[in-house]
Amino acid sequence: RVLKWTWRLTYLSAIAGIAYIGYGVYQDRHPDAQVEPDPSKKTLVILGTGWGSVSLLKRLDTENYNVIVISPRNYFLFTPLLPSCTNGTIEHRSIMEPIRTILRQKKARVKFYEAEASSIDPDRKVVRLTDTSEIRGDTTETEVPYDMLVVGVGAENATFGIPGVREHSCFLKEIGDAQKIRKRIMDCVETAAFKDQSLDEIDRLLHMVVVGGGPTGVEFAGELQDFFEEDIKKLVPDISARFKVTLIEALPSVLPMFSKQLIEYTESTFKEEKINIHTKTMVKKVTDKTVEAEVTRPDGAKETVVFPYGLLVWATGNSVRPVVQDLMSRIPAQANSRRGLAVNEYLVVQGTRDIWAVGDCAVAGYAPTAQVAGQEGNFLARLFNNMAKTEAIEAKIRELSSSLNLQPGNSAAVSREIEQYERQLRRLKDAKPFKYSHQGSLAYIGSEKAVADVTWFNGNLAAAGSLTFLFWRSAYLSMCFSSRNRLLVINDWLKAKVFGRDLSRE
Ligand code: FAD
Ligand code: NAI
Repeated sequence: RVLKWTWRLTYLSAIAGIAYIGYGVYQDRHPDAQVEPDPSKKTLVILGTGWGSVSLLKRLDTENYNVIVISPRNYFLFTPLLPSCTNGTIEHRSIMEPIRTILRQKKARVKFYEAEASSIDPDRKVVRLTDTSEIRGDTTETEVPYDMLVVGVGAENATFGIPGVREHSCFLKEIGDAQKIRKRIMDCVETAAFKDQSLDEIDRLLHMVVVGGGPTGVEFAGELQDFFEEDIKKLVPDISARFKVTLIEALPSVLPMFSKQLIEYTESTFKEEKINIHTKTMVKKVTDKTVEAEVTRPDGAKETVVFPYGLLVWATGNSVRPVVQDLMSRIPAQANSRRGLAVNEYLVVQGTRDIWAVGDCAVAGYAPTAQVAGQEGNFLARLFNNMAKTEAIEAKIRELSSSLNLQPGNSAAVSREIEQYERQLRRLKDAKPFKYSHQGSLAYIGSEKAVADVTWFNGNLAAAGSLTFLFWRSAYLSMCFSSRNRLLVINDWLKAKVFGRDLSRE
């Protein structure tokens, strides 16, 4: 009997799931007609199409403003699954969502310019744009004025000025980075398998070095080892004994933001997976074939170690983008801010009145994560929707108040209406400041295992292993921005499981 009900429930949930995805796909393909923007409304310029800006756009009532989005990337990128694109577990287009599709779902039309904001002038209230179009083969510059501006341009890769990093390493932030890494892995494998290579050269080519033991470095190292164990080893057996993954971290442990037991679990899983971890090892110099690092020995002595490499992935966190640095230099109140635009509790850039910042480029006291950026974007959407409602109600009150004199016979009814509006206005003006609610941290560590530090009934729950891996997959699937992305990601997971990953080097 229990089995029968379990089957029925599974069957019903499957139908509900399919109906939910089907409805989402139908909605995406058949959006309602859009209204044209009203030129009398304020111009709201949003920079970036990442987690912060797109979360804002998704919830913003665009009919209240003339919205203009500017970004060099005409798509949203679901970064949590980016490490899975480096080995072909997921195809890159499955985690990209065209910004035009997102904007088409809005009630009022939104303008999009594919360009980079090169500078912001807070005095003249203009954004300077640079469009380097391949089709035209030149660079076009222009200006866009704003009444309100949201800066959501994210961050750059930190290199700390270490010589050789920019020239010789691969980063892992954008789709192009993941594609470059995927090509490079196969280049190393095929070159190592080429006729008459010396053993030293084969060892170098098959040594994959990852610098930075934060979640990006750890997830990538796990994905790389999976690729090797599940696919490369079977298809290119002659080189398999020499493939090696090394993770280098300056601090005493990897994943410093996770709890101690999860750090230990990750380190022991990496040992089983044969990923070499070098902690207390700070990279000082990179050449085209080697990484030089300073190791701190247990007695405190320092020693220089050289790692020859075939692939080097640099994942040492974030630094400030030039456009943000330039804006900070124009605002005296930002003089002491180093890691991005200091914002107040309403995400207003300190020292300005009409500029807000979200995500990795904003310093609000939280970690630079998608979770924070998404919640900040949602907060700003609520704030801007409320601001527009407040202005509309204030205009209504002004109109009613002036009609009081014109229709003295009707004054009691009009006064009651004004009171109602004033109550609404008080509620709207009582907007609470931004407060981040941490849902937990998740990271994939390879071999179909994940670690999770999740918030559970006001407490913390640490979990690790294969069940956590299923939780990791379902959590990220539910967080995907569209039904299309969800279906494509499921398809990629199935494809990789059934046929193996694709080793072709495009
Ligand atoms: P981004 O998402 O980086 O978006 C910035 C946008 O601004 C982009 O569209 C960019 O093209 C645009 N832009 C850049 N320069 C300009 C310019 N000059 N003018 C206009 N537009 C510009 N966080 C988590 O919480 N969970 C995870 O699992 C997770 N996994 C991650 C995995 C990887 C590999 C990486 C790299 C990051 C991961 N993160 C994760 C962190 C998360 O991706 C970032 O915190 C998040 O993307 C920040 O959002 P954002 O909107 O500030 O910036
Ligand atoms: P990070 O800043 O979290 O970690 C970078 C690591 O590199 C640090 O541990 C640092 O000690 C190390 N490092 C710096 N310089 C070094 C050097 N010269 N030699 C050796 N090691 C060096 O950066 P990461 O992993 O790119 O993450 C950036 C942000 O994105 C973080 O806020 C992170 O939480 C978030 N993120 C979250 C993920 C998740 O939740 N699963 C996945 C990926 C990123």
